[in-house]
Order: sequence, then C-alpha cells, then structure tokens
Amino acid sequence: MYKNYFDKILSISDTYLNKIFNEKEYNNLKNKLKEKKFTKDSKYVNYFIQEYTQQIKNKYQLEHKYNQKFSKFLEDKKNNLKIVWGDCLNVLKKMKSESIHLMVTSPPYYNAREYSQWKNLNEYLDDMKSIIKETYRVLDNHRVWVFNVGDIFDNPKTKTTSVWGKQRIPLGAYFIKIFEDEGFTFVDDFIWDKGEPQSERNKNAGKPYPMYQYPLNCYEHIFIFHKHRLDLTKFPCPRCGTLNVNGNTQSEPGLQSWECKNNKCFERSKSNRGKRFSLKTNMTQSKSNWSEINIVDENIIKKWRRDIVKFNPVIKINSKGNNLIGHSAPFPEDIPEMSIKMFSYVNEKVLDPFAGSFTTPKVAAELGRVGIGIELNKNDFKDAIIKRLNETGDLLKKKVTFEECDFSKEKVTNKQLKKDF
Ligand SMILES: C[S@@+](CC[C@H](N)C(=O)[O-])C[C@H]1O[C@@H](n2cnc3c(N)ncnc32)[C@H](O)[C@@H]1O
Repeated sequence: MYKNYFDKILSISDTYLNKIFNEKEYNNLKNKLKEKKFTKDSKYVNYFIQEYTQQIKNKYQLEHKYNQKFSKFLEDKKNNLKIVWGDCLNVLKKMKSESIHLMVTSPPYYNAREYSQWKNLNEYLDDMKSIIKETYRVLDNHRVWVFNVGDIFDNPKTKTTSVWGKQRIPLGAYFIKIFEDEGFTFVDDFIWDKGEPQSERNKNAGKPYPMYQYPLNCYEHIFIFHKHRLDLTKFPCPRCGTLNVNGNTQSEPGLQSWECKNNKCFERSKSNRGKRFSLKTNMTQSKSNWSEINIVDENIIKKWRRDIVKFNPVIKINSKGNNLIGHSAPFPEDIPEMSIKMFSYVNEKVLDPFAGSFTTPKVAAELGRVGIGIELNKNDFKDAIIKRLNETGDLLKKKVTFEECDFSKEKVTNKQLKKDF
C-alpha cells in the first residue's frame, strides 16, 4: 500500500505537518525524502527525524537576521579551526541562532589583566550580561556552556577607588545569577584546585597574630550551565518516526517530553503505553551519537568524577622571564578537553567567545570537532598566537588547519551593541 516507510510516516503525520509548515517548507521536506532508499524501517525513521528536526531549526533560525557570509565561513568544513578577530558581542550578533553545540570559555576576570579594564565592577558585569544573553540565542537547544572563572581579589570601585578598596570579589556567584537571569540552568560547579601557589607569601604581613590571617586563593570555578528553551513543537517518536504524539510532562524545566500515541508503533509498553521521549533524548540516545568515536575515555571520567579536581595552571613564563604562549592568562588544556569530550559529539561546533590564545578551538579541532574562537585583542595577540599555532607540530599530526576572519576594524562601542537588542 505504501511506497516506502516515509509514506507511512507522512500519512500519519500529515495534519500536523500541514499545520506547522507552509507549502514551500512542506515540499522542501518531501523533496529531501524523495531520493532516499533504505533497507530497514528504522533507517527511514532516523532519516525522517534528522530532516524534520533540521527543518524546524531552519525555520527558527530565520527569526534572527544573521550574516550569511560569516555563517558560510563557520560552516565550511575545509578548515577545522576558525580564528575570528573582534568584539564577541558584535560577532555573536552576526551568528545563526542555535548553531553552536558547545561553548567553553574563561572570560576576562574583571580588571585582573592589562588587556581588558572596566571603570567599575558593575560596568563589567553589565557587559558580561549582554554577551551571555547573546550566547543563549546562539547555543543550540538542550546543550551546555562550560564557564571557567575565579573569585578574584581586587577593587570593585563601587564604593572607593582608593587602594584600601580591595576585597574578595565572588565573580562566580555573580555569573551564576547572570546565567540564570538569561535563561540558563545552573547544573554543576567543579572546583579547580590549582595546587600550591607559586608565591609562598602568606597574606599576614609577617604577623603571626589574630586578625592578620588571610588564605591564598588556590581555586577557580568550572561551571556547567544547560540551555533549555521550551519548544512546544512536536518531535517525531524515535521508534515509529510519526508525529502522532501528545505532550507529556516537562522532564525538567524547559524540556518538553512527548508520548507516542501510534498504536502500531514498534515499541509499546506492557501496559500499552507509547514511547516517552524528548528532543534531548532523541539526541542523546541516537545510535550515531552512541558510536565508538563518541565514547568518553575512562581516564577523563575518572579524573572528573569528583567536583574538586586538581591539575596545574599553565606555566607560561620561562626561566628567562619570557612569555612562551603569547597570552598572560591561558587556561590548561584539561578544561576544554573535559568539556569537549563530555558535552559534544565528533564533527560538532565548539565556540570560545573569549578565545585568548585559542586553547579551546585548538583542542576542539584536535578532537575532531570544529573549533571557533573570538578574540578582541588582535593587535596584542595575533602574531604570537599564529606563530605558536604554526609551530605546534601536533597540529599537523592531528590534521588541524586554521583560517581567519576579521571584524576587528568594525568600530562599534559596547553601548551601541547593547542598544540594538
Ligand atoms: C582569560 S582570557 C582567555 C584565555 C584563554 N582561555 C586561553 O587559554 O588563552 C580572556 C580573553 O578575553 C578577551 N576579551 C575581552 N573582552 C572581549 C570581547 N568583548 N570579545 C572578545 N574577546 C574579549 C581578552 O582579550 C582575553 O584574551
């Protein structure tokens, strides 16, 4: 009766497909299916889910006006490490919605380094909030943001600018609030134990008496945030592929679950309940994502089993006092390595909006992903970073090639950028 299993899916799902797609979109989906022939029904199901989900995403992405040329640059598979110069707020605004599968970064820690400085803590947090808001749009739905930040000792300059204004500034706590306000869910906080500080100085001015004792700062946070944008679009049952599904509960805030109502579905429970699933389980449990290349190695699982993890910071200054990296605050590869292996699949796109010396994109490319980094300070870092990437023999062995895109000449102030939202 049916030409192939797609016809069966379409006939059961036709009413809903007509409701959510206009004629052109529906025909576009049908054309994608037309040429495909498989030997098993399950292959038809998987292909339909893939194409349908992509079409829903394309529709959503059209709601934001993105830069098409830049989008092509990011999607081009020719090179797997993309260096983007410019202000990340400006660059993020040019990007397609939900086009990045994982974000990993360490932002500037307020005024801790010479390369980025703000008038006071509030202005810094305002800027970070605008950027995090935009990352929410660009990160794919039900995906992860890994954010490394330290609680610094500095002057917030909100009360006094005098030298006596220094205090512990809990940047970690402030960032959790910003992320939650922008819609993310705070999931985990790994404490990175940085070991013995290089300096043996005790913060007690040499006085072994009460009220003079302060600890040295030896930890940073590695936060895990999830994005769950509530999407009430129906998604196909992972067993029969049809859209004969009804809303179930939300399995966590922002994550809609569905229950298959097709009585002829390949999978029914003993009590004749249909398969229950969500867009997230369709992704995490898909056969291709459970292939061997995506297995997280045992060492990583073991190393990150506890939420306090000890590894060394990067030693960037050699015995002659020269900086070997070309950047004063690189993070160790341990952070992107864990993030990429635990929260992305091979061939996906990983973005670091505060790329510094491009540690994240480099590790991403080495691990078979596409690594994208955005860095503001082109003039300060470009030569050293490109030289270092070119000299890294490992890149060649691991088939990493990079290309650049430059927005650093675009003169847009943060004030202008924020106004555009
Ligand atoms: C802590 S460093 C990141 C270091 C990096 N993880 C590495 O391994 O080299 C933060 C970086 O953010 C950059 N930055 C600050 N504001 C920025 C902005 N608006 N857009 C892009 N990069 C920015 C700084 O120049 C600095 O290189």
